[in-house]
Amino acid sequence: MIEEVRGALDEALKKVAGVVTLDELRVVDSEVLGKRGALAQAKTKLGALAIDDRKTIGQAINEAMGVVSEAVEVRRSALAHDEVNARIVGERIDLTEVLGRPTRGHPHLVTQAWDRLEDVFMGLGFQIAEGPEVETDFYNFEALNMPRSHPARSGFDTLFTDYRQVIANAGDESADADHESSVLLRTHTSPVQIRVMQSVEPPIYMIMPGRVFRRDTPDATHMPVFHQIEGLVIDRNITMAHLAGTISAFTKAFFGGDFTSRLRPNYFPFTEPSAEFDIQRPDGTWIELGGCGMVHPNVLRAGGLDPEEWSGFAFGFGIDRMARERHGIDDIRDMYSNDIRFIEQF
Ligand code: DAH
Repeated sequence: MIEEVRGALDEALKKVAGVVTLDELRVVDSEVLGKRGALAQAKTKLGALAIDDRKTIGQAINEAMGVVSEAVEVRRSALAHDEVNARIVGERIDLTEVLGRPTRGHPHLVTQAWDRLEDVFMGLGFQIAEGPEVETDFYNFEALNMPRSHPARSGFDTLFTDYRQVIANAGDESADADHESSVLLRTHTSPVQIRVMQSVEPPIYMIMPGRVFRRDTPDATHMPVFHQIEGLVIDRNITMAHLAGTISAFTKAFFGGDFTSRLRPNYFPFTEPSAEFDIQRPDGTWIELGGCGMVHPNVLRAGGLDPEEWSGFAFGFGIDRMARERHGIDDIRDMYSNDIRFIEQF
């Protein structure tokens, strides 16, 4: 009888060791430890044995069952571990195909220009502020001295998030009752000027970089999403001379000592007088960079400041254009193509 128990134990351990999946193990588990298993069957024969034999054989059977169930547990955890590993290997994504070879990433060339602009203006004593990309009509237009029906508004191909405003733009006046609370994607960084004036006590020496949006079809020189940097100075007795001096200092710090700048009269609703500023390269050619001017009294008032007490200047220009200029890129779309072969050159 003891031979029978030993044989059943060996047989059971062999079966457990031979199992290769958790499903198989579940079957073998009930085969060797269940009611119909050899060990359980041996138990049913105990009743026919002499009392001493019954005790020793019974004990041997219990020990054998303990050994087998421990073997089942050990096998179970080994198989579970293998299956997880197999899944991890199976689900692995081969990224070497995308990269070709391991390279270190670096900031995009627009981010590089953005960072450098911040560095240069911080060196000139400016602080940095940012505003929301989704704006209200008030901040994007109204507070910047562009009341509704102002012709300058049509110069910005605005993306409205408010359906009623889209209808109103198409000329249906009745749909436009709510225009002052209408919501849009900011067309320039100038609305941040108002937010800064409302929240910071002058004197203010601030730059405001950010992403802006216009309903433009992409071409070599336009993208519907691009970046601007805005500047705002508010203090007592600020004059056009401070503006010209700041643009000049910026030009030399950013482009180099052999570059110069000039202001050309222009019109913007939010500044009076207004100018466009150009940069001259060492070879004598000019680059048109952005707009600037003395902050309009209506804009100061919208920002909660008294025009009798405070005066200031503002400027704004495109960051993408700076990056394009610096690297001699012909087509602005290339900068956003995400073609690694193009991007990694800069
Ligand atoms: N907001 C203008 C634009 O997007 C640029 C600009 C012009 C900003 C004159 C200014 C400014 O601050 O004074 O075209």
